[in-house]
Amino acid sequence: MPSGLTPTTRPLRLLLLSHAFNSLTQRLFVELRARGHEVSVELDIADGVTEEAVAMFAPDVVIAPFLKRRIPATVWQRVPCLVVHPGVVGDRGPAALDRAILRGDTHWGVTVLQAVDDFDAGPVWASVNFPMRAAPKGSLYRQEVTEAATQAVLRALQRIADGKQPQDPGPTRWWPAVPPAERAIDWAQDDSATVLRKIRSADGHPGLQTRLFGQDCRVFDAHPVTTRPAPAAFADFRPGQAMARRGPALLCRTVDGAVWIGHVRPEGPTPQPASLLPLKLPATEVFRVQAAALPELPVPLHRASAAGQDDWDELRYEESGPQGARVGQLHFAFHNGAMSTRQCERLRDALRLARGRDTQVLVLLGGEDFFSNGIHLNAIEAAAAHDGDSAADASWRNIEAMNDVVLEILTMDDRLTVAALRGNAGAGGVFLALAADEVWAHPGVVLNPHYRNMGNLHGSEYWTYVLPRRAGAGRAQAIVQGRLPLGARQAAELGLVDACFGSVGEGFLREVRSRAGELALHNASSRVRAKLARRAADEAHRPLAAYRADELAQMHRNFYGFDPSYHVARYHFVHKLAHAWTPRHLAVHR
Ligand code: COA
Repeated sequence: MPSGLTPTTRPLRLLLLSHAFNSLTQRLFVELRARGHEVSVELDIADGVTEEAVAMFAPDVVIAPFLKRRIPATVWQRVPCLVVHPGVVGDRGPAALDRAILRGDTHWGVTVLQAVDDFDAGPVWASVNFPMRAAPKGSLYRQEVTEAATQAVLRALQRIADGKQPQDPGPTRWWPAVPPAERAIDWAQDDSATVLRKIRSADGHPGLQTRLFGQDCRVFDAHPVTTRPAPAAFADFRPGQAMARRGPALLCRTVDGAVWIGHVRPEGPTPQPASLLPLKLPATEVFRVQAAALPELPVPLHRASAAGQDDWDELRYEESGPQGARVGQLHFAFHNGAMSTRQCERLRDALRLARGRDTQVLVLLGGEDFFSNGIHLNAIEAAAAHDGDSAADASWRNIEAMNDVVLEILTMDDRLTVAALRGNAGAGGVFLALAADEVWAHPGVVLNPHYRNMGNLHGSEYWTYVLPRRAGAGRAQAIVQGRLPLGARQAAELGLVDACFGSVGEGFLREVRSRAGELALHNASSRVRAKLARRAADEAHRPLAAYRADELAQMHRNFYGFDPSYHVARYHFVHKLAHAWTPRHLAVHR
């Protein structure tokens, strides 16, 4: 039994000690609070600060979901500290997932260990394994690892409460960080599968180093090519060369085919042109001039997922069900859920296409990892480096385009709309979902329905209409001012989510399709009549244009006014500057 704990089922005082309040930390925050525990957060800034937080909060247990440094001995010797390691029992080191992907492991896991002097070397409180998926590291982290870690932490706390002891991990192996040379792409040798595996093992951090158009960069967001260009077209290019473009991505030749590379972060001392910022951006924007000279290889928006037709693009529309009870499904898998002006315009056009189809229900599916995270802060930051443009102007264009998307959904008056959240949503991305008639999510989804963390941004996306109409005016204010993440179940209690079911992955999508089919078959026409009546009454009470105008007047002040908080916060966010303190609304002990 760790010192200071007696067997108990009482609510515990739990301190989440984390490098950042990232998706996993947020998921644990909502799950633990939902179980009645008292939870506070301290970002890992310095040993002295951690010691102070522990002294102030006097936690029963410290939980470390995501740390880059050791927990000070003065803390783990006094309080039991549970460290979440994204690796199986016996695995140790900072690149656990990277290496599992590189090795091509078919199964992986998460282990909750008690902190001791050595990294990942303590006794084991719980572990949960899962089958691996062919996906980027970040996606595995947000889905499989987060699910397994949540289960493992809950199990570990239960074992502590039951007075059990942690177990010896048995033989362990330390794996160091992956040196760049170990996973560098050898374009002359590596086949497409190898190139994909290497890129995915480093995506989103640190990104795989390579060169494109002679520029040092890190690449992300790689996708296989299923519809290949004619082999003759390949022959003219060397492996590693870009051959075509689509949306944000470049089609890069490999020895046996090609891969799409969607996002790039330029690096090195002398980027060309000098206006290139070290930010993760669409590949076609980083290499704007070179990409413009490449042929575009479009793919129809409306395409099935059957082999050969499901060639990658950010957007895809498909339909299912019999005539009269037909369901349209719109996927918009924007990288990291960030939606630039270009992406908003594409989505708006796709919604218009979907509207022209004979369906009774339209399901908005977002992406697998994120439904949406609102306007594209990296693209906005990058715009400031272009002559004649500014971050304020780019923010303005982006929010207008985002609002046009939301308006398209709000005014879809001839069918039911469903936002089905397969992944998390933040800021404007949440209100985009709330514009739909129904919002469905699985219990692992975390929502951040507020803007103020981004330099006190007021926000738009018609949130002043869609949030109070679901949650009521009082609760709406509490939600946006509270600035806390909400689990899907909690969001359902507050009226933001209509149905919470299934679990992360394909199972949720299957159930969404089946429920949408039922909706189209049984309820669609009467529900559409009811929504038309409500929309007309709402419009008579206050037009949508008035909500938009008022929100945008506030946003104008955020973008162009004398208070630069939004611009400062965005700069910190996109350049990932280290936190200097823990925000008060998270560190309740302070
Ligand atoms: N624009 C650009 N990039 C964004 C983004 C946005 N709106 N939202 C998230 N991202 C990026 C992050 O920079 C990160 O990039 P990385 O792959 O280089 O690490 C990635 O998406 C994942 O985000 P992260 O913050 O690590 O995810 P999280 O699950 O821990 O946190 C949020 C989710 C939504 C709380 C957080 O990303 C956030 O606050 N985003 C900004 C939301 C916002 O203010 N939007 C603008 C107003 S509408």
